[in-house]
Amino acid sequence: MQKNDAYPTVPGKLKNFRLTPTGISGQTANGIFYIQIYAENTFRIQVSLKKTFQANPYSVVARATENAFTFEETDAFLILKTTKIHLLIRKENFSLTFKNPSGEVISEDDPNYGIHWLGTEVSNYKKLQEWEKFIGLGEKTGGLNRFGQTYTHWNTDHFAYGTGDDPLYLSIPFYMGLHHGLSYGIFFDNTHKTTFNFGAGNNRYAYFSAEDGDLDYYFFHDQYISEIITAYTALTGRPELPQKWALGYQQCRYSYYPDKEVIRLGQTFRDKGIPADVIYLDIHHMEKYKVFTFDAINFPDPASMIRELKKMGFKIVVILDPGIKVDEAYTPYQEGKSKKLFLTYPDGEIYQGQVWPGWCAFPDFTLAQTRDWWAEKLKFYTDLGVDGFWTDMNEPATWGQTVPNLVQFDYEGAGGNHKKSRNVYGLQMARCTSEGQKKQNPGSRPFVLTRSGFAGVQRHAAVWTGDNVSSDEHMLAGIRLVNSLGLSGVPFAGYDIGGFVGHCSPDLFARWISIAAFCPLFRAHTMINSHASEPWSFGEEVEAIARNYIRLRYKLMPTIYTAFHQSSQTGLPVAKSLALVYPFDDKVYHGTFENQYLFCDALLIAPVESYKSITKIYLPAGNWYHFFSGKKLKGEQEIYWDCPLNYLPVFVAAGSILLMQSANQHAADKHDGRLKIHIYKGTGTHAQSLYEDDGISYDYQANGYISRTIQMDHDHGTLVIGEATGEFQSSFSKAKIYFHGFSEQHLIIDGQEQKLEPNNVAFLDEISEYDPLPMGDHAFQICKAVPAITLHLDQKEQVIQLRH
Ligand code: GLC
Repeated sequence: MQKNDAYPTVPGKLKNFRLTPTGISGQTANGIFYIQIYAENTFRIQVSLKKTFQANPYSVVARATENAFTFEETDAFLILKTTKIHLLIRKENFSLTFKNPSGEVISEDDPNYGIHWLGTEVSNYKKLQEWEKFIGLGEKTGGLNRFGQTYTHWNTDHFAYGTGDDPLYLSIPFYMGLHHGLSYGIFFDNTHKTTFNFGAGNNRYAYFSAEDGDLDYYFFHDQYISEIITAYTALTGRPELPQKWALGYQQCRYSYYPDKEVIRLGQTFRDKGIPADVIYLDIHHMEKYKVFTFDAINFPDPASMIRELKKMGFKIVVILDPGIKVDEAYTPYQEGKSKKLFLTYPDGEIYQGQVWPGWCAFPDFTLAQTRDWWAEKLKFYTDLGVDGFWTDMNEPATWGQTVPNLVQFDYEGAGGNHKKSRNVYGLQMARCTSEGQKKQNPGSRPFVLTRSGFAGVQRHAAVWTGDNVSSDEHMLAGIRLVNSLGLSGVPFAGYDIGGFVGHCSPDLFARWISIAAFCPLFRAHTMINSHASEPWSFGEEVEAIARNYIRLRYKLMPTIYTAFHQSSQTGLPVAKSLALVYPFDDKVYHGTFENQYLFCDALLIAPVESYKSITKIYLPAGNWYHFFSGKKLKGEQEIYWDCPLNYLPVFVAAGSILLMQSANQHAADKHDGRLKIHIYKGTGTHAQSLYEDDGISYDYQANGYISRTIQMDHDHGTLVIGEATGEFQSSFSKAKIYFHGFSEQHLIIDGQEQKLEPNNVAFLDEISEYDPLPMGDHAFQICKAVPAITLHLDQKEQVIQLRH
């Protein structure tokens, strides 16, 4: 190859290597490398042209594993093997091939330019495999399958983004590839601006590259996509279990003020019997948009306003913007300046950019002292009774949308300019906000909602998808964004219901809130001067639809809270793109079906535009029941389905066990004490856990929880409500069991044959249980005959036998 500056620099031939307890390190003709094993299914690859490696201190929380591989050397290759991955390193040119133990190629470097540099830009070109699909990559617009697209990670404040625009607010350089029944994941752990090309504009490569820094990536391979996500979150961390109220309905607007208006808002929810848990205070709560202040005119006594809202069962979340107004008389500015906590130019002058308050200084959240200071400052709000924080504008956003690239960050002492540090700024703001909340309120779990972030953000915050637009297209795009975040390790995510920018129509709001009832984060928000977006702002019919879907959300709380608990253990999403469960079913990537997802595993949600009254749905493998009518449907078929505004198409997977309760007004409000166990006839054995705790504190980490498994053996008709573990007092004293799709009419409980309760009792229950709104022509025939039994629920195991 001709050598001049226009040509790429490659690592070159292997010069030497050394085995270490965790992997293999060495030199090539032009650089250094280190390959380490983090788990059987996780390899880390570091390659640099420099003498030492640069690392991102912010995303990975796991360590490499010792003695987890075997090593072989042949004439042509160095080979590292675990039970899941065989990595072949070609000595001639340091190109890498990942195979499974059966010898099938999972991923391989392009033979000539696999790893290369063009100036400071580092790239890894991987051979495009036949029919390869790509999913994930975090908050990225476009289709579920990212093949043929190229994306950039550069955290950007993108007001009213288009549904194909890129980049947005948050970066997660992690994606999964699928081909020939094999799946793998790649996490490129480089915080510079990165590019991911999935075969866009060429038919030879899929590649990722960074403007600067090392090639430092993790390669995952396992049998299932779920195992890859679990491995990725073992590396970058998992979310903590949120407080239960954070899973309820949340109401936001830019902005609710003055204080009387906020109280009136809360009271309206209660008067109208529309459940809700959270009210947000946007930037108008502050004096001249200065963070850590309340406006004295609109909020003369915030503590008493918050107390009053708390009496109604509301939690208060306030916005936090990073920009600190440049004002010598303003304490946070004085402190930041004197303690040297702000971003600076290389000559030491404080960097100033304009945001809401005018010219601002920006805390350097990559400096530990700044994070500690910020954590301390939160006391201002927590002392007033504030329950959570909403970290916004943390890309960081400035008017003009540019921060000069020479601006300096501490980057944990390593030093970084804006190019290296921008992408982790929001992550570090979310981190110290969460840490600060824990510090100020040690007894309770934090709640942070962030706009910007980077890989690992799930440890500190929930995420929302920024300034979306009131349109059907945006509603569906938001679902894909949230599902993609879920595939990328962020289970707790949502979008502004109704759209932030523009005026939402009544139909759109009705549909949007119905879908969002099955979104992990359930929050309505809209912009200043736009049409209001409270559930009652669009007339009686929409109010009724909104009320019913919000109530349904609260009825599903036993399932949802349990799902969040599981997600905190596994890193798996609560809203799962069908690609996660059916990765090799081509239909799930089809434009018509790519928005469909599973909520809490049992429910299949088929989002549809507000103007459609009939829609096409793909039911994947297995059998399904229509949630509202109980109608049974076969899987692996496309169906046309009625979707009047009051009936979002929702289906339940056969075999599932769905746990419900009576609707309450907010998460801490008492329900009727009956656990409703809905069992949908299937085959084989299905288990569902029920997890409960106080919904607030960390007591669950000791014994302050109660958990039990409910298991149905469909082939033998045996239902086992397992013995409870943990010492928390369950909120349920009775269970009512609904059998959907069963023909048996008799049960044997404790050796006694019992007849099921008369259908009419079940029928009445069913109406309040499921029916979102019996409306005119569209009223569905509610589940016709669902036999039900009631039993006393204590800690012990209970076995129920259906007579065959
Ligand atoms: C940003 C946020 C938006 C918020 C507004 C005012 O645009 O994305 O949610 O309401 O700022 O604070």
